[in-house]
Amino acid sequence: MERAGRVQGKVALVTGVAKQNSIGFATCKVLAEEGAALAIVDISDKVHGCAEALRRLGATVSSHTADLTEMDQVQAAVAEALRTHGRIDVLVNNAGMVVEGREEDFTDFPSMSEAQWDFGIAINLKTQFNVTRTVIEGMIERGCGRIVNVSSVTGPVVANPQESAYCAAKAGVLGLTRGLALDVAKHGITVNAVGPGWIDTGSTTEGERAGALNTPLGRAAHPEEVGRLVCFLASDEASYITGQLVVIDGGNTIQEYKGPSELYY
Ligand SMILES: NC(=O)c1ccc[n+]([C@@H]2O[C@H](COP(=O)([O-])OP(=O)(O)OC[C@H]3O[C@@H](n4cnc5c(N)ncnc54)[C@H](O)[C@@H]3O)[C@@H](O)[C@H]2O)c1
Repeated sequence: MERAGRVQGKVALVTGVAKQNSIGFATCKVLAEEGAALAIVDISDKVHGCAEALRRLGATVSSHTADLTEMDQVQAAVAEALRTHGRIDVLVNNAGMVVEGREEDFTDFPSMSEAQWDFGIAINLKTQFNVTRTVIEGMIERGCGRIVNVSSVTGPVVANPQESAYCAAKAGVLGLTRGLALDVAKHGITVNAVGPGWIDTGSTTEGERAGALNTPLGRAAHPEEVGRLVCFLASDEASYITGQLVVIDGGNTIQEYKGPSELYY
């Protein structure tokens, strides 16, 4: 018997897709393999190349550029996506962490400027508010919808030095996820967050790669592993899960002992 895809016939809007070696792109691949049509959005016009690559893999996909920190640009991009696909059933708020083409900005808190703080909160948290606020009305009208917010372990579970704005924003994503889940449950909409640990993407640094070797599973995740989790939460199989953070970190955050192993084991 032929298996229907987990998100067969759904339309998914995925933000933050400008690189092929990324969580956003891998999520799109999984969603398309499982039957969804896609609208992808990024601040970078490399989003159109990603759409081409997804089409070559057999996906139905439209691509849109927008700075998702700006509400008018979000509304224009969502309107374009709606003109193409008619509705949005699944929203994956994945954009964040870095802006394609711009260097990542690590600063310890005592030397952080107000502008650096605002930027970290804007790209990681305000983007999720803007897109969700724009998409939610259609979901409420149809009485169904799935929202998956990409958070991190960094912020809601653990922290790294020089990343306090990122930590605050990603912890804020969990608060948004819970508050929103309560407000829209009566409309048949679920809202969940995923908390990736070390994921092997184009932006992985040498230090992150070394960190990944020290996880209980001894490796970083492939982006598709995050994509499959997002797809599950976007599917009917996850119909009774809402307001949750699902950590996907190879067991990294459950390890208590951080000292040299020869002193302990
Ligand atoms: N890579 C990891 O190890 C890891 C771990 C935990 C969480 N995450 C989260 O996963 C998500 C994807 O990360 P990735 O590693 O695939 O990186 P990525 O750089 O490929 O993806 C982020 C995308 O978001 C886009 N973006 C940022 N600000 C934007 C804005 N204002 N408007 C429109 N687009 C914007 C960027 O241009 C980029 O294409 C991020 O939210 C990140 O915080 C990643």
